[in-house]
Amino acid sequence: MIDSIAVALHALAAAIWVGGMFLVYVCLRPVVHEMDPQPRLKLMAGVFGKFFPWVMMAVVVLLATGYYLLMVTFGGFAGAGSHVHIMHLIGLIMFALFLHLYFAPWRRMRAAVAEEDWAKAGAQVNTIRLIVLVNLTLGLATVAIGSSGRYWP
Ligand code: HEM
Repeated sequence: MIDSIAVALHALAAAIWVGGMFLVYVCLRPVVHEMDPQPRLKLMAGVFGKFFPWVMMAVVVLLATGYYLLMVTFGGFAGAGSHVHIMHLIGLIMFALFLHLYFAPWRRMRAAVAEEDWAKAGAQVNTIRLIVLVNLTLGLATVAIGSSGRYWP
């Protein structure tokens, strides 16, 4: 029972994080690209301000449930398949990239938008865009690996 709850929470956290990045990068970004810097950066800061706390929660849930499944359900690193080791490694890279994004460019972007320094905010949003692109690519790969791995030959 606990195993199935852990897998469900793990998959839900992945869906929220990766799905949110997909919406922001693939659907929202090309649309706001047409806007003037001031409303665009205010809108993006508003969207990030709502989305990033959910990502922080998703990171905590992925870590807690991922290590539960790895250590308890699979009985440790030796009992897990290669897909779990790949997911673990990519997951740690994604977590590190998100923490950097949250505490460096996002913090600077929020301050720049509050000060109405649009040039500075624009530079920070560019860094955030690059990190989101990397994490979206890694996240899509991780979902494919994590969900298909148990059927690998
Ligand atoms: C510390 C990092 C992580 C650990 C230790 C971990 C561990 C695990 C384990 C043990 C499983 C069960 C595998 C199986 O039943 O064969 C799993 C499944 C899965 N993981 Fe992770 N994971 C981590 C990070 C991530 C991340 C970052 C994502 C995506 C953003 C992710 C997405 C998934 C998905 C989609 C599944 C399949 C769920 C299902 O349908 O059964 N994991 N993970």
